[in-house]
Amino acid sequence: MLSSVFTGALLLLGLQVQSALAFIECNVLDYGAVADNKTDLGPALSKAWTQCVIPQVTTTVADNVLLYVPAGNFLLASAVTFDDAANWNLHIAGDIYLPFNPSLTGTMLTFENCQNILLNGPGAIFGNGYRYRPNGDLTMYPNRPRLIRFQNCNNCEITQVQLFNAPMFHVTMIGKYNIAHDMSIMADHIGETDGFDMSGNNNQVFSVTVENGDECVTVKTPTNGFIAKDIICRFTAGCNIGSFGSGAVGVNVQNVFYSNVTISNSDAGVMIKSYPNCQGTVKNITYTGFTMSAAAYPMYISAFWEGGTTDTGKLQISDVTFENIKGTGTPTRPAILLNCNKATPCEGITFSNIAVTNTIADQFTNACGSGVSGLKAC
Ligand SMILES: *[C@@H]1O[C@H](CO)[C@@H](O)[C@H](O)[C@H]1NC(C)=O
Ligand SMILES: *[C@@H]1O[C@H](CO)[C@@H](O)[C@H](O)[C@H]1NC(C)=O
Ligand SMILES: *[C@@H]1O[C@H](CO)[C@@H](O)[C@H](O)[C@H]1NC(C)=O
Repeated sequence: MLSSVFTGALLLLGLQVQSALAFIECNVLDYGAVADNKTDLGPALSKAWTQCVIPQVTTTVADNVLLYVPAGNFLLASAVTFDDAANWNLHIAGDIYLPFNPSLTGTMLTFENCQNILLNGPGAIFGNGYRYRPNGDLTMYPNRPRLIRFQNCNNCEITQVQLFNAPMFHVTMIGKYNIAHDMSIMADHIGETDGFDMSGNNNQVFSVTVENGDECVTVKTPTNGFIAKDIICRFTAGCNIGSFGSGAVGVNVQNVFYSNVTISNSDAGVMIKSYPNCQGTVKNITYTGFTMSAAAYPMYISAFWEGGTTDTGKLQISDVTFENIKGTGTPTRPAILLNCNKATPCEGITFSNIAVTNTIADQFTNACGSGVSGLKAC
C-alpha cells in the first residue's frame, strides 16, 4: 500500500519513472479479501478495482497497474464483472476456489467492453465443476457458472494462469486482437467444459494445453482471421469451428490457420460443425501439422451435426486445407468424413500428406476437392 501510494505520487508529480518500477499494486487484501478460503473474494476484487485501479490508470501499459491477488487460498463465491475496463492487469498469484452453490450462475470473471487487459498468473482457479455435475449429470444445475469471459474486448491477453475443472466453459474471448497463450486448462472428461472459445477478428491462441471432454481451441462465428499454434488437446472434442446453432444465418468464419496441434483420445480431431438449415460462409481454413492419436473423426466436416435432415443448407464451406496430418484414428470411423449440403456442396477441400491409420474408409458426400482418392474434383 505504501509503495503504491509512493509510486502514485511520483506519477502525479510527473517524474520520469522507469517502467519496471512504475507499477502500482492494488492488493485485494487491502480491500477486504482474506486468504482463508472462506471470505468471498468477489467484493474485494470489485472494491479494489473501483477504488484503487480505476483512479490510478494513467498509461496504456496494462501491467503498470495491478489488481493483485497475492499468494494464498481465496474463495470466489460471487461473480464479478469489470465493465468498461482498460489498461490494467489482473495478476493472480494465489489459488482461487469456487464453492458449490446451486444459485451461483453466469460467469465468475467477466471483462466487458474492455481494452488492453492482461490477466496473468502464476496462480490458479479451481472450479470444482464435478460438484455441479453429480454422477456426470449435466442437467442437474444447467445454469452453473462459467469461468472467464472477455465480451466485446480488444487487445486483451490471458496467460500463465492455470484453470481447473470449471462448472462450465473455461475461457471465452470475443473481440479483436485478443491472445491466450502459455497456460493450461484441466477438466473432467465430460461435455460443456470448453477450453478456449474464440470469436472476432485476428485473435490468437498458442502454446496451450487443454484436457477436458469438450472443445479444445474452437472458433465461433463471426471470425475473420484466427491463428492457433502449438496446441495440445487431451480427451477433448477437438479443435473445431462451430457449431453455429440450428437455423443460424449470417455465419461468417474466414481466414483461420491452425498449426502444430497434438490431439489424443479425442471425440473429434478437427471438425466444422453445422446444421442443415444454417446460412453463411466458412472459407479459407487451414489445418497443418497435426498429430492425432486415437482421435475419432480426425478430419470431419458435417452439415448434419446433431441431426437435422431437411437439406436446405446455404452454408458455403470452401477452401479448406488439410496438410501434414498423421497418427491414428479409431477402428470404426473414417479418417476423413465430409458430409455437406446437397444444395450447397463443400468446395475446394484439399488434402496433402495425410497419414492417419486405424480407421475405416473415407466418406464423401456433396464435396469436391483434391489430394485423396474417392474425392471428386471440383
Ligand atoms: C478451499 O475451498 C474449496 C471450496 O470450498 C475446497 O474445495 C478446497 O479444497 C479448499 N482449498 C484448500 C487449499 O483448502
Ligand atoms: C509444437 O508444439 C509443441 C507443444 O506445444 C511444442 O513443444 C513444439 O516445440 C512445437 N513444435 C514446433 C516445431 O514449433
Ligand atoms: C487465408 O488465411 C490466411 C490466414 O490464415 C491468410 O494469411 C491468407 O491471406 C488468406 N488467403 C486469402 C486468399 O484470403
